[in-house]
Amino acid sequence: MSNKLKLAVAGVGNNILALCQGIKFYETDGRNVGIKRADIGGMTPHHVEVVAAFDIDAEKIGQPLKRAIFAGKNNYPDLQQDLSEFALEVSAGIAPGGDQEGEINRVADILKSSSAEVLLYSLPTGLQEAATAYALAACRAGVAFVNCTPEIVARSDEIMQQFVAQETPLIGDDLASHIGTSIIHRELLGLLNERGITLDSSYQLNLGGNADFMNLREHGGTKQQSKMNALAQEGVDVSNVEVIPSAGFIPHLRDNKVAYLNIEGSGWAGTPISIDLKLKVQDSSNAAGVIIDLIRIGAAARRKAMHGFIPAAARLLKSPPGGHPLYADADIDASFADLR
Ligand SMILES: NC(=O)c1ccc[n+]([C@@H]2O[C@H](COP(=O)([O-])OP(=O)(O)OC[C@H]3O[C@@H](n4cnc5c(N)ncnc54)[C@H](O)[C@@H]3O)[C@@H](O)[C@H]2O)c1
Repeated sequence: MSNKLKLAVAGVGNNILALCQGIKFYETDGRNVGIKRADIGGMTPHHVEVVAAFDIDAEKIGQPLKRAIFAGKNNYPDLQQDLSEFALEVSAGIAPGGDQEGEINRVADILKSSSAEVLLYSLPTGLQEAATAYALAACRAGVAFVNCTPEIVARSDEIMQQFVAQETPLIGDDLASHIGTSIIHRELLGLLNERGITLDSSYQLNLGGNADFMNLREHGGTKQQSKMNALAQEGVDVSNVEVIPSAGFIPHLRDNKVAYLNIEGSGWAGTPISIDLKLKVQDSSNAAGVIIDLIRIGAAARRKAMHGFIPAAARLLKSPPGGHPLYADADIDASFADLR
């Protein structure tokens, strides 16, 4: 088996623009800067070949991927990489309405003929019907599915059973950014709990200027719940924690995300403790830095004939099936060992 990971992508947005440029970056930069695991299942970050891509934006369909990733509302920075190898044409994706069953079969056929090993689902948040349709297409084609979004796919028993029956990996839901508000918020709340500080209240506000932030203003419901799932841990009561996925769309921020975290607590004799933190990150780098592990987990698991959810992915997701407390560190380490 070649160590090239054959990847299909649904949604050619900022995540894919960041991912494709990173794949080329790591081909020439051997330092693995910004990479947690150099090798997963024999695959390094530049061992990714995009073999199929789907979108419904007229500016992207029919275009070679190297042009489509800079089209439409995509505004991740140009990292000046040579993208000539990303020449495949973007196919029409599954649009809402119409003959969904026929469309699922059409996409499944393209996945099969492209020899894709993994389908990365990276559409705007809030499109449950589309998430289910692409997952079923992947399942029918026997292709591992990775869900970047908060839509319920890996947490759906019905969909999970179909992947198990097809002996195919299903990884989701909702990627947890590389170093985003969810992980920092989660760790700070856990730290207060560990040190015996009583949590009184907390909030998290996220601002950005990309299409995702524009979309989340209107369709942030599933993301809000998923961000709350990401904070869940033993001993931490999150009933007084507020999370606003998009507190504002600010066009000049482009693909930068700015987040504000506040935590109010009580220490010795009820005296107050207050934490305020500002985070500024390149939003879609934050996604690509985790996608690179999720897709390698999906491909490695498929090559080893594993199926269903792969615990190695649990910490890389906001909403793994069953919730975070289900996955002990030892089980996650064992799962990574199985993928070697
Ligand atoms: N940036 C992060 O750190 C992060 C973290 C967690 C989750 N996510 C999620 O990842 C997803 C993708 O993010 P992004 O910034 O690339 O989004 P984006 O809005 O830049 O790109 C989405 C792409 O999907 C396309 N699309 C819309 N409907 C489609 C359909 N039916 N079929 C095929 N393509 C379709 C759009 O035309 C667009 O090209 C979002 O749901 C986002 O919330 C991102």
